Amino acid sequence: MVKAIEWVGAGLRLLDQRALPEQECFIDCADWRAVEQAIRTMVVRGAPAIGITAAYGMALAARDLPTEDPWLALDEAAQGLALSRPTAVNLGWALARQHAVIAECRTGGASEDLFHRLLAQAQAIHAEDIQANQTMGHLGADLIRQRLKAGERARVLTHCNAGALATGGFGTALGVIRQGWSEGLIEQVFADETRPWLQGGRLTAYELAKDNIGVTLIADVAAAHIMATRGIHWVIVGADRIAANGDTANKIGTYGLAILARYHGARLMVVAPTSTIDLNAATGHDIPIEDREADEVRQFRGQWVAPRQVAVANPVFDVTPAALIDVIVTEKGVIEAPGIRGIGSLFGQS
Ligand code: MRU
Repeated sequence: MVKAIEWVGAGLRLLDQRALPEQECFIDCADWRAVEQAIRTMVVRGAPAIGITAAYGMALAARDLPTEDPWLALDEAAQGLALSRPTAVNLGWALARQHAVIAECRTGGASEDLFHRLLAQAQAIHAEDIQANQTMGHLGADLIRQRLKAGERARVLTHCNAGALATGGFGTALGVIRQGWSEGLIEQVFADETRPWLQGGRLTAYELAKDNIGVTLIADVAAAHIMATRGIHWVIVGADRIAANGDTANKIGTYGLAILARYHGARLMVVAPTSTIDLNAATGHDIPIEDREADEVRQFRGQWVAPRQVAVANPVFDVTPAALIDVIVTEKGVIEAPGIRGIGSLFGQS
């Protein structure tokens, strides 16, 4: 499996996901500003991967602290990283964990050991994410198994890239697909190409093909036809932020797929670690949705595919209402028909 994020001693090495699938090249980040730029420009993307990367970014900030106003420099790094992308809550979650370590050192007035402590926590966040993905892989595969008739294998459809590239490793939605495939539960995986950035075509197809998992790439607009004619059992996706009532922000197009799935009798499985749940967002209306540059839509790999001045709307996430989600799989358990009580139960709320 490809390593999208790696601490290599001198700094953070990121696989440049903008160059995939043609080239596997890496970018070394020597300071937090380079990390911020890598997140903003999508060298690294995917909610858990963004969080992990930001956590390493804080370690880099602590390594290069000025003697004057070190705490101010750390605040600046945290704020800069927090603003790099708005929708994935894993970013703020990881920064809050790093902030707790900083606050403890600050109370004690000692900043010498901070770099090692922040690096250790970034590595722990990274390792926990892989572990969570493996747990979710098993839980999700069990759900697939439970609904299969004797001798049947599932046809699944996924959107965007919620794989090893988007996480610490293994993947959320693709973790379930990996696990289900290895257990012989899945017959075929359809991957939406995921306009405009093509995470499905460039990343999911690359990642699954590399692992010899049978993937069939489709244009986004083919999803309804595929559901109507191929009998999709599950739509399996990741998430960028899940509100307290289960409303889920994920890559633009997920909401449409959810409606299609309900109409065609396919079940919708959202797979995300609890670091993606934002209890401060009561509903999907409280989730900030990122808009990206117009040229992502007007151009295709540097070629104009629309009039240069045409107005464009480019929201890159949408919110699927909880009512359209059949199940949310987290590392702490599975929530069927998610709502406030189900989500709250993951955090010990009754
Ligand atoms: O814009 P991106 O590529 O960062 O969007 C990624 C997604 O929407 C993923 O589905 C989500 O982050 C889950 S990744 C495990």
